[in-house]
Amino acid sequence: MELRGKNALITGAGKGIGRAIALALAKEGVRVGLVARSTADLEQIASTISSQHQTKTAFASADVSKRSEAEAAYNQIKHDLGPIDILVNNAGVASFGTVTEMPPEEWERMIQVNLFGTYYMTYYALPDMMDRSSGSILNIVSTAGERGFATGSAYCASKFAVLGFTESVLQEVRKHNIRVTALTPSTVNTELAAKAGLKIGEEHRMLQPEDVAQLALATLLLPDRVFVKTAGIWTTNPQ
Ligand SMILES: NC(=O)c1ccc[n+]([C@@H]2O[C@H](COP(=O)([O-])OP(=O)(O)OC[C@H]3O[C@@H](n4cnc5c(N)ncnc54)[C@H](OP(=O)(O)O)[C@@H]3O)[C@@H](O)[C@H]2O)c1
Repeated sequence: MELRGKNALITGAGKGIGRAIALALAKEGVRVGLVARSTADLEQIASTISSQHQTKTAFASADVSKRSEAEAAYNQIKHDLGPIDILVNNAGVASFGTVTEMPPEEWERMIQVNLFGTYYMTYYALPDMMDRSSGSILNIVSTAGERGFATGSAYCASKFAVLGFTESVLQEVRKHNIRVTALTPSTVNTELAAKAGLKIGEEHRMLQPEDVAQLALATLLLPDRVFVKTAGIWTTNPQ
């Protein structure tokens, strides 16, 4: 797909993987709509993009786990940039603990942000894509969406769910020429990984946010007839 001049909405664009994807898309001439809760982060990345690339940016502060905020953010970005061609559902949270140790609020929160946030944004973006018979949705999942492990019940449940959501929506909208893809990277060197205690091994041997951004770009650049269901990447570092 030719990317220049397209409009993208990236959730969780203030930091880490979302930020790297926003920068990579802006470099390709994509107009980028940035969503996260922290306005300061969004202002910072919008200003970085404006100083480095000749493309338009817009941002909206929202908690994507709240349906009304997700809808308002979608409408704000659409108002500022125009209809969204590329939706990147990246906003996510992670923490680990056994089922009985983790407070129910924390367990619920992971499902709300990682699954409901992805569902809400997709719900708002798809009608515009279907009207135009084109579009791409990238859901940032994780190897935790394919493999369960002790202390991962909430995170894995949320990511397994997003994989099921991805495949089902892909089958629904393929006939409208809308591509829905899940990226499943292993551990990436971000704040999320550090806070969750995942930064094992040498940092320079971990995946970097820019690696996931390149994978996102490569997927989007494939010919429109190619539908990728899942793309996984790892490093040589044993996880
Ligand atoms: N890092 C890894 O090892 C790894 C591996 C595989 C997959 N992933 C997935 O990749 C995605 C990004 O992770 P990351 O490592 O880049 O995390 P990060 O560095 O913590 O960045 C997360 C971004 O999401 C935003 N966010 C969090 N909760 C939000 C909410 N409720 N509403 C809107 N925005 C929200 C954060 O901003 P605010 O806090 O300001 O809202 C931030 O901009 C996640 O879905 C994660 O599960 C990460």
